[in-house]
Amino acid sequence: MGDQIDALAERFRRSYRREPVGVWSAPGRVNLIGDHTDYNEGFVLPIALAQRTWIALAPTTGATSRYTSVQADESMAVEREAEPGAVRGWAAYPAGVAWALRQDGHDVPALNVMIDSTVPVGAGLSSSAALECALALALCDLLSLELDPTDVAMIARRAENEFVGAPTGAMDQVTAMHGRAAHALAIDCRSFDVRPVPLVLPGRGLELVVLDSRTPHALVDSEYGERRRTCQEAASRLGVRALRDLEPAALKAALTRLPDEKMRRRVRHVVSENARVLACTGLLAAGGDPREIGSMMNDSHASLRDDFEVSAPRLDVAVTAAQGAGAAGARMTGGGFGGCVVALAEGSRADAVVAAVTEAYAQRGWERPTRIPATPSAGAARVR
Ligand code: GLA
Repeated sequence: MGDQIDALAERFRRSYRREPVGVWSAPGRVNLIGDHTDYNEGFVLPIALAQRTWIALAPTTGATSRYTSVQADESMAVEREAEPGAVRGWAAYPAGVAWALRQDGHDVPALNVMIDSTVPVGAGLSSSAALECALALALCDLLSLELDPTDVAMIARRAENEFVGAPTGAMDQVTAMHGRAAHALAIDCRSFDVRPVPLVLPGRGLELVVLDSRTPHALVDSEYGERRRTCQEAASRLGVRALRDLEPAALKAALTRLPDEKMRRRVRHVVSENARVLACTGLLAAGGDPREIGSMMNDSHASLRDDFEVSAPRLDVAVTAAQGAGAAGARMTGGGFGGCVVALAEGSRADAVVAAVTEAYAQRGWERPTRIPATPSAGAARVR
């Protein structure tokens, strides 16, 4: 990691002909269980990954910020006072963070920024939240703002929702800020109370296998927004603030009050998924055998596939192949329509799980899935 930071600082010097004032970083994430629950004010159980985004930064004079990305191999000039809609592509994420802080009345100067990352882009592992959170933390330091990690996450989330225009929940940003090595994060997406629960898999002979399905995901934005609106409408018809307020015991009666089968299925997913997250959290917090969350991961996938309808053929095939190869549990993870699957397997079976998914893809003539190392890791921090 030290080498990566040195290399980034050196690139900064070469591009901007000056010293950065510091280097900050934030991780990507993978969600163990609890999808499409965050914007229903419910529960999630993600881990922060070891893959991170680093930024080196210095304030500059004038009206134009410059953001340079090593991965995109591109340098973008952005007006310091850019408003939502004015910036396209990856630069909207950092520009959105500067905008959100300005909205709060902070005098954000023009910036020189250099960005490097090991978080895969387009795999559904929250490379955007990693970038937003690294910059948000950097700007808080630069402006001497004493915000707690959840407040920083909320700035990053506003950048995503209001500047980039993606109507996401806050799971990704809260995870990037709060990540902890050897722990999953039990997040209450109403209070944003974050409780780290131990997740020491190698010590139990287990491994998390994350595979990028490499599905071209085109529908994500419109379908995500549609799911979100349906959930809100269901909550208001049921007279609750959010679907989080619907207890499993009240589900059956509640479903009879909804107008159509589609809405009933969406609600059933959210209510059952929240219950699964709470059960997994309780099990891990009590030091139980992580293998036991496997069946809940399987149920979560079935619910996302059949009730919430956000899976995709490559995700379903990967999950079925992983289960067939002896994984304790497997599910799609994140927003869906593509991205990754996460499987929990005996360490001794992990390679067999990957081989089974690879073989199932080959039989269908699909691109080989990419294995992504997944180790619960620390959250955003200043690293220099
Ligand atoms: C995306 C969003 C998150 C969350 C997940 C689904 O990753 O960014 O806020 O809603 O989808 O759980």
